[in-house]
Parts: sequence; C-alpha cells; structure tokens
Amino acid sequence: MKALVFKAPHQPIELEELPAPQEGENEVLVRIHAAALNHRDVWMTKGLYPGLKEGVIPGSDGAGISEGKAVILNPNVNWGTDPGYFGRNYTILGMPTNGTFAEYLSIQRDRLVEKPAHLSYEAAAALPLAGLTAYRVLFSKCRLRAGEKVLISGVGGGVALFACQFALAIGAEVYVTSGADWKIEKAIEMGAKGGANYRHDDWHKILHKASGGFQVIIDSAAGDGFGQLLSMCQPGARIGLYGGTRGNINKVSPHLIFWRQLEIYGSTMGNDQEFQEMVHFVSEHKIEPVIDSVFSLEEAALAYEKMNSGAQFGKIILKID
Ligand SMILES: NC(=O)c1ccc[n+]([C@@H]2O[C@H](COP(=O)([O-])OP(=O)(O)OC[C@H]3O[C@@H](n4cnc5c(N)ncnc54)[C@H](OP(=O)(O)O)[C@@H]3O)[C@@H](O)[C@H]2O)c1
Repeated sequence: MKALVFKAPHQPIELEELPAPQEGENEVLVRIHAAALNHRDVWMTKGLYPGLKEGVIPGSDGAGISEGKAVILNPNVNWGTDPGYFGRNYTILGMPTNGTFAEYLSIQRDRLVEKPAHLSYEAAAALPLAGLTAYRVLFSKCRLRAGEKVLISGVGGGVALFACQFALAIGAEVYVTSGADWKIEKAIEMGAKGGANYRHDDWHKILHKASGGFQVIIDSAAGDGFGQLLSMCQPGARIGLYGGTRGNINKVSPHLIFWRQLEIYGSTMGNDQEFQEMVHFVSEHKIEPVIDSVFSLEEAALAYEKMNSGAQFGKIILKID
C-alpha cells in the first residue's frame, strides 16, 4: 500500500510502498479514503512534538470503509478511565502508533464510529481531532450557552473554525480574531458577528468596544496576546486554552484574573464519550466542515507547507484513492 512515513525531524515526510497491515487482536482493517492534517503533524517535522518515533505513518484524522461500513476514526488511543483527564498510556493516533496517511490502517474496532450520513469522506476526515478538541473546550470546559458572547481566536485554524461553527450552531454570539482580514470576512459570512485582526495595534480595544466584553474566550495562541484577551473578559468569564502557538504567556496581571473572578481552563482533545457526542452534534446540526484544500498523498509536501504557512482557512485534506 501507499503510505507517508515520518523519517526524522527536519526531514521531509516520504511516500513509500509498504505491506498492508495485518489485523491484530480486536482490530479491524480500514480502507482510508481521506485523511486530514493537524498542526501536530507539522510540529513533528520540526522535532517539536514529544515521543517522536522514526518510521511511523503519521495522521490522526481519517474516514473510510471497514467491513462494508462507512466510518470515521476516533483518534484517542488509551484515554483511560477518568473522563476528566487521560491516563499515563494515552497517545494520539499517528504518533507513536501508525496513523491515517496510508491506504490501509489496522485499528481497534472500538475506535470506529459511523460516518455522519450528510458528510463526504473528505468532510468526515476533517472532523475527528479538531472537532473533538473544539467540542470539549467549548462545551465541557467553558460551558458555552446560547446567547452568550464568545471570542474564538485565530479562526483560520482547524480547531478554531470548528469552535466557531459549533458556537454558531447553538446560537451563541460569535466574534473572531485572525491574522488575515479575508478570514474574518469569511467567518462573518458564516454568521459571526464581528472580528479583528490581531496584527493591528488596537485589535483588542476594537473588539472590546464592539462586543461589550466576552463571557467565553477560546484560544490556542497564548503568548503576549493572552493578557489582551483577558482584558476583554466580562466578570466571571471562562477562558479555554488548548494550544500555545505563540509561546509563553508573559506580563499577565494577576489582579485581572482574581478581581474579575475569571476561570481559565486548559483543554486537550476529549474523552471517548465526548467524541461520540461531538459526532452526534455534527449530525444533528448538519454541520459541514470547512475544507481549505484537498491534496493527494503524492502532493503531501504541498499540504504540509500550506499548514506551516498558515495560509489556510479550514482543514487541509489528503484524498487517498
Ligand atoms: N490541546 C489539544 O488537544 C490540541 C488539539 C489540536 C491543536 N492543538 C494546538 O492548537 C494550535 C492550533 O492547532 P490547529 O491544528 O487548529 O492548527 P492550524 O489549523 O494550523 O491553525 C493555527 C492557527 O493559529 C492561529 N494563530 C497564529 N498566530 C496567532 C495569534 N497571534 N493569535 C491568535 N491566533 C493565531 C492562526 O489563525 P489565523 O490563520 O486566523 O491567523 C492559524 O490558523 C496548535 O498549537 C496545536 O498544536 C491542540
């Protein structure tokens, strides 16, 4: 079968011909029709991901056919028994275990979930990791409710865009930030109320004035802009943080956090129950994942480059025919 292989940090991912996998105990074979990139796939190529193993097939997101049924894959490996926090043996599909950037994958049977009927394989492949992360941080952690004002930062990102779509689906009032004005316009076309470009000096003042302050903020950038996010919070606001693209959080006034009684939640992925709930939510609300672009396995270098450049709006898909 054709598969992409992680060779080593700072080396390109390579397309290779490998033997198809054998089904292990409690495993089933999935013919992958589409997979999707996540930022972790790019972090790996830069050596910035823990537990890297050479020779692994990356890819956390996939949709395909198994035993005649159309399925999507739950990327959690060994979440464990505590719904609040994954256990010691937790990993994510696609490192250190083989993932979805291949024609076939052998995977535990209980990782398969029926593909939402309204989605193509490409759209379904966009969903698992980013949809799960967005669902947990938005609903389980930050308890977003209809009518609340929520700010989603960096809306061009895969997780952020699902958070935007999920928040709109329940009737929240959504604002966004982005480093590109055209991405803000796209979010507004989808139903967001407004937005600001985080590259402009007064972006947080503009947003604060437009919104009157936020009850929920969802962020994966962190870095120096985090304090500005907090300055836009209403008293008692909930902040969900699921990434650190811009590095360490500096110069945040503790006064702001305790005086406004803010709740700051760290969030990573989601448990298996949340995965089921997220897929059900997407089916119920007929949510259509936003696809930025579709590449073949042969074009994988272009797909990685696009994600690295941040030029995308929505998910970058690998179609595996
Ligand atoms: N904890 C978890 O479970 C989990 C799961 C998935 C991802 N993550 C992390 O979350 C981050 C995003 O992942 P992804 O897969 O969604 O990546 P992605 O699709 O590549 O999105 C990255 C996004 O970050 C945004 N960004 C860059 N600089 C920013 C800034 N200064 N302020 C606000 N936003 C900024 C950009 O938004 P614009 O294009 O709109 O400017 C960009 O699209 C990564 O750090 C990733 O490792 C964590």
